[in-house]
Amino acid sequence: MAVTGSLTQSESWKLLQQHYAGLKDQHMRDWFAADPYRFERFHLQAAGLNLDYSKNRITEETMRLLVQLAHERELPLHIDSMFSGEAINRSEKRPALHTALRNFSDRPVLVNGQDIMPEIKDTVHRMEEFCWKIRRNQWRGYTNKAFTDVVSIGIGGSFLGPKLASGALKPYWDSRLTIHYLANIDGSHITEILKRLDPATTLFIIQSKSFSTQETLKNAMACRQWFLDNGGNESDLAKHFTAVSSNVEKAVEFGIAEENIFPMWDWVGGRYSLWSAIGLPLALAIGIDNFRDLLRGAFEMDEHFRTAPLEQNMPVIMALLGVWYVNFFGVNSHAILPYDHYLRTLPAHLQQLDMESNGKSVTADGYQVDYQTGPIIWGGVGTNGQHAFHQLLHQGTHFSPCDFIMPMCSHNPIDNFHAMLVSNCLSQSQALLQGKSEEEAIEELIAAGMSKAEAIVLAPQKVIPGNRPSNTLYYPKSKPQTIGALIALYEHKVAAQGMLWGVNSFDQWGVELGKQLGNKVLEALESQRIPQHFDGSTNGLVRAYQQMQDM
Ligand code: F6P
Repeated sequence: MAVTGSLTQSESWKLLQQHYAGLKDQHMRDWFAADPYRFERFHLQAAGLNLDYSKNRITEETMRLLVQLAHERELPLHIDSMFSGEAINRSEKRPALHTALRNFSDRPVLVNGQDIMPEIKDTVHRMEEFCWKIRRNQWRGYTNKAFTDVVSIGIGGSFLGPKLASGALKPYWDSRLTIHYLANIDGSHITEILKRLDPATTLFIIQSKSFSTQETLKNAMACRQWFLDNGGNESDLAKHFTAVSSNVEKAVEFGIAEENIFPMWDWVGGRYSLWSAIGLPLALAIGIDNFRDLLRGAFEMDEHFRTAPLEQNMPVIMALLGVWYVNFFGVNSHAILPYDHYLRTLPAHLQQLDMESNGKSVTADGYQVDYQTGPIIWGGVGTNGQHAFHQLLHQGTHFSPCDFIMPMCSHNPIDNFHAMLVSNCLSQSQALLQGKSEEEAIEELIAAGMSKAEAIVLAPQKVIPGNRPSNTLYYPKSKPQTIGALIALYEHKVAAQGMLWGVNSFDQWGVELGKQLGNKVLEALESQRIPQHFDGSTNGLVRAYQQMQDM
């Protein structure tokens, strides 16, 4: 569906600008002091997740105007278009139907008039059978030993989602199988993985929607060679190599037996593909029932996103808060701070999800935007970040809204570790909100024994402005269903922002140029000729590479 009018000329945009001018100097501390129900007022529950968004620079009027903006941008219509399979990825003329992969309703989903649900269900059945055979040792390696290791070879969306969910659900892993993720085109990465493995007990899954991604194919070729060099025969390859791809022809050409290829479809974007057979390594690790629970959690979030009114819609609210900071406060980044060791790769997954989706400066209609779009996503696991980059969050000149993400119960409840972890999380968002005034700093220094004169000099260093916004997402425990809902929440937040900004969140033309240039540079690096045809810097660096090969 076409994008609706000019964003910056819309009525609600102008009202939000005026509203911002009146609100920007107010402190959240005062709002909390004046309103004992602020937590309840700005709080949502959906699909097993809770969102406390009370620590944001918002009033009820802010939210009313933001929701008005969403209506003006016809957000509900855009959401319907996505779920109904309209070709919303207009530059590639494709729908974005990752939601069909977790559609537990009996609603058909049509692509070109054809219901895609039977094929999806059939693929899940194939995954189930495959997992069953591997996990029950029915499918064994060429020496008849059971598999102990699975190497998933893929990059970008064919890597980050499964890696995140595998990490998040580590307590559910089958202890007899270890899953390794090989993504980077770096001899050190593949060496470090393979050196610990036995080819006779290693299964490879080549994960590539296009089956033409340079890094994945190179790594896959190298793994194949390693297998052949270390005891395996050509005739054993079918037992050890499987693939997930929408390009069956290329996968077969590579040497994968057709019956070992799981399908992908062009209506699933790479960064939204965890829910497809790209989730196979995860399903092997946690079992198909847990994988289904993950899908179910995502489905619950889908239903919420599709049907909840905008003002109670968790992904929409998070999207609108992001728009509020990016477009009115001029903020250009957003921090993801999971307080759960198992969720430590969440920032990396969300970097791809958000920045590859909304890192765009042209609308889906091809017009240059006159406003900022997707922010820089960064972050890290708590409490490590507190002893590193949180300094900037508290006192830096940049302000970065934060999402604190926290299970209330641990899978490993030893001693009072979890209470300590939670206390760190809560005190960080509290400190960001409250800050420390100059008077408080002076009082504190005097109480610690400093003279008033000295305290006055030192106090400015200790002032923390506070008034820095954060969301807290919390839930009882990191279970498959919850993790499914959490990932889907961010998918929909990002999609809703793309719809508000009018960009196409489902293509990624920006990454193509580097890929195109890469081949020419590789050719130059491997030739003996001194390059002259690139820019001066690239010529110089290629020369340096050539000269340093013998060192
Ligand atoms: O880097 C671009 C990209 O196309 C991502 O969107 C995608 O997830 C990744 O490459 C891997 O692509 P493929 O699954 O086709 O190998």
